[in-house]
Amino acid sequence: MAELKECVFIDGIRTPNARAHAEKGWLRETRPDELLTTIYTALFERNNKIKPEDVDLLIVGAANLSGMQNDIARLAWLASGLPESVPSQSVSNQCPSGMSAAMDGARSIMTGENDIVIAAGAEDMEKVGMGANIDFPPRFFERYSPFEIPMGNTAEKVAEQYDVSMEDMNNFAIHSHMNAKAARDDGKFKNEIIPVMGKEEDGTEFLVDRDQWIRDILDPEKMKAMKTPFKEDGRVTAATSSPLTAGAAALLMVSREKADELGLSYSYKYSFGVQAGNDPTVMGMGPLFSVKKLFEKTGLTADDIGPIEINEAFASQSLACIRELGLDNDNAPFKRVNVWGGAMALGHPLGQSGARIMVTLLNILKTDFPDARYGMATLCGGFGNSNAVLIEKVA
Ligand SMILES: CC(C)(COP(=O)(O)OP(=O)(O)OC[C@H]1O[C@@H](n2cnc3c(N)ncnc32)[C@H](O)[C@@H]1OP(=O)(O)O)[C@@H](O)C(=O)NCCC(=O)NCCS
Repeated sequence: MAELKECVFIDGIRTPNARAHAEKGWLRETRPDELLTTIYTALFERNNKIKPEDVDLLIVGAANLSGMQNDIARLAWLASGLPESVPSQSVSNQCPSGMSAAMDGARSIMTGENDIVIAAGAEDMEKVGMGANIDFPPRFFERYSPFEIPMGNTAEKVAEQYDVSMEDMNNFAIHSHMNAKAARDDGKFKNEIIPVMGKEEDGTEFLVDRDQWIRDILDPEKMKAMKTPFKEDGRVTAATSSPLTAGAAALLMVSREKADELGLSYSYKYSFGVQAGNDPTVMGMGPLFSVKKLFEKTGLTADDIGPIEINEAFASQSLACIRELGLDNDNAPFKRVNVWGGAMALGHPLGQSGARIMVTLLNILKTDFPDARYGMATLCGGFGNSNAVLIEKVA
């Protein structure tokens, strides 16, 4: 076998994340395939040394590959008028789908099978509802209680099991919004967000160039009083959950040899990635297992990592994982976790988020942690699948 090649990141972009809401969502009239068209167009404009026909493989992750998202990789690419000769693959392992796309793409470059790969993630949770069209195996529900599988219920169970209080979750959510607002106001998302035409709630058309869910003003008293939709007298509220969201994101990854041949510039490469499975009734604890596995296999510890992106599906699960893994302080504000905010503020379009947090991590590394050798991104997924990846500065 030939030696492994290096896979470098040439670019990473995304659409703004909008509420997936039939009346209030800014991108309510845009289909997920159209979001991908915006992304592909921008990617080729920004990187004009690469032509669409040069792409060796396109991989797109979506949690729910049905309806408008059925084989979204192939159908959106062709609908975008892009070359039939580029092979594509739609992948799903729920929320980590976009990250799995990037991991598969990077590995195919490292083995020498491909030189130029686009890995993306896309989801519109209003047009293709979470869990829509699932026909669960009856034997699955002999093994697990149907009351313990819905995502919000797993978040409540984690809060109880790991003793995460509503107060700590609200505090985390407030900091997530504060970080996201500060990053937005400082223009830090400018390099990654590709503006898309959308509509205000009143129907006025406008160019959406920012994430819809970030709250500029938070009222801790109101948050304390919010109802707990997943459990009577529970701890998890809409404020401490990621909202239903629509968005797309993509990474352009190239072998280092090819990048040098084309004169492309790069600073970071894919270093390592793992997946882990865990109990679906506490699916949010997935990063505990994938990050532990990543540390065991690489010999690294939390101290070796600069910025960390952990997807905030719910405050309870991300906070419990941060604590169990000793990634940062026990409570927000954090020094290196989700420094530009997380999904509670930025949104979580399921299959997009794994790619989105890698895109954001690359920008955080460049702007806020230029001396860090490593950055790490991780997320949990419905039914107990978790991914973690390591991004490394190119020597
Ligand atoms: C929590 C959840 C059920 C709430 O859904 P919902 O009740 O339909 O409504 P919304 O998300 O639109 O929010 C409810 C209200 O709370 C408000 N709200 C949310 N956060 C708030 C905060 N920090 N302070 C004050 N109000 C807040 C919203 O603004 C909204 O009111 P509005 O429509 O008037 O703006 C839904 O967002 C959800 O299921 N989230 C989890 C998604 C999920 O499982 N993802 C997968 C993870 S693995």
